[in-house]
Amino acid sequence: MGLDVAASILKRRATKVFDAAYRMPDADLDTILGLARRMPTAFNIQNWRFLVVTDPDLRRQIRTVAWDQPQVTDASALLVLCADIRAWEKEPERYWENADQSVRDFMVGAIDQYYRGREQVQRDEGMRSCGMAAGAIMLLAESMGYATCPMDGFDFAAVAELIRLPSDHEIVMFVAIGKAAAAPYPTGGIMPEKDIIFANRFS
Ligand SMILES: Cc1cc2nc3c(=O)[nH]c(=O)nc-3n(C[C@H](O)[C@H](O)[C@H](O)COP(=O)(O)O)c2cc1C
Repeated sequence: MGLDVAASILKRRATKVFDAAYRMPDADLDTILGLARRMPTAFNIQNWRFLVVTDPDLRRQIRTVAWDQPQVTDASALLVLCADIRAWEKEPERYWENADQSVRDFMVGAIDQYYRGREQVQRDEGMRSCGMAAGAIMLLAESMGYATCPMDGFDFAAVAELIRLPSDHEIVMFVAIGKAAAAPYPTGGIMPEKDIIFANRFS
């Protein structure tokens, strides 16, 4: 790993033009996804699912429903970050397999109590998990000399069909990873601190 976290944050930009000829070693993607999975999820339910689209034909089809954005086909890796909305009820013991039996029993009960019947929370939680994973993926990639583009500019329903998304999953976003082939546009602008950071109450 090269850059530290602060340097990776400052260097990262949403990259629009990738070197389509560049092949990223599988080991690098394994490293990125292995480490991204160490980000936190509520109750450790690990409700993120990372779909790696390697099939060039499928990438071309996805591009047609993604405003023809070239990142979809030209980045070395196209990740579709998805949430398994019902992960909370799928063998929840496995999320606490390293814990003592009493802790495991407690957590399994707490997970059920927290999520059952709360569809909005189940979905929101998937967005939180994948959002954090996406951040980690982009910074890890940056630290390894890659550029990235976070994306939600696509037809979610059409992509769901193309990737055969299970009915209890939701697509959260794409992250494209590869070698940048053009300098980024100037940064759009950073809002003043007073409009973003607040103390104690909003008013
Ligand atoms: C959730 C999300 C979705 C985005 N979707 C797209 C996209 O579809 N295409 C694109 O070119 N950029 C996309 N962007 C990039 C943003 O426009 C970009 O991150 C923002 O303008 C800030 O610029 P920077 O990332 O270069 O600092 C997306 C960013 C986020 C966080």
